[in-house]
Amino acid sequence: MFGLLCGLTGAQPSTPLVDAARGPVPVPDFTAPPLLGNAVNDDQRRPRNYDMQPPTIPHRVDGYQIDKNFNKCLDCHARSKTEFSQAIPVSATHYIDRAGKVLPQISTRRYFCMQCHIAQDPVLPLVNNGFENAEQMAKKAAAAAAQAGKK
Ligand code: HEC
Ligand code: HEC
Repeated sequence: MFGLLCGLTGAQPSTPLVDAARGPVPVPDFTAPPLLGNAVNDDQRRPRNYDMQPPTIPHRVDGYQIDKNFNKCLDCHARSKTEFSQAIPVSATHYIDRAGKVLPQISTRRYFCMQCHIAQDPVLPLVNNGFENAEQMAKKAAAAAAQAGKK
């Protein structure tokens, strides 16, 4: 009976629940995310991890205007502008509408660049990632097979 009452009144456990990924902030409370400043501006194009991954942005973009009147990104990245800007032209896919028609200007589907492309901040991952791609796994397997052959 007492247990049932506790459940009904929402009585709190005596020690607050803490999740390691959230730090010391108790689970029912809100965490304050760190402010992102788009600090990475090294101009180094990063490798893509899978087919059709939108490349990440290797330069600062804060303050760039993107609205119905103007798109700062296209000032450099539009295919007609890259001769002067030396930016990587947006790929041909960005000029195709959803019916598969090739347009003379950027497709509205691709207008808001930062829906898909993101600037970077030098933050540590919350959870470490031991992912290996197929190439890395094949190399490891070949090295192991060579080792086994020597014995
Ligand atoms: C002043 C010119 C300029 C503007 C404006 C600009 N870029 Fe760039 N961008 C470049 C140049 C040049 C590069 C090549 C790498 C470098 O030098 O940073 C580049 C690289 C990139 C890449 C990497 C492409 C790849 O294949 O790795 C992406 C994505 C990108 N920009 C997206 C954007 C987005 C989104 C915006 C608007 C928010 C934008 N850029 C605005 C000049 C510009
Ligand atoms: C709906 C998602 C989406 C939007 C919106 C989008 N892109 Fe992309 N972008 C991609 C994907 C996916 C790729 C890689 C595959 C490809 O080239 O289509 C890419 C590739 C690129 C590349 C590299 C081209 C190359 O040849 O390596 C640049 C530069 C780029 N986008 C810039 C932009 C700019 C600037 C905008 C805004 C005007 C924009 N993108 C809007 C998804 C998007």
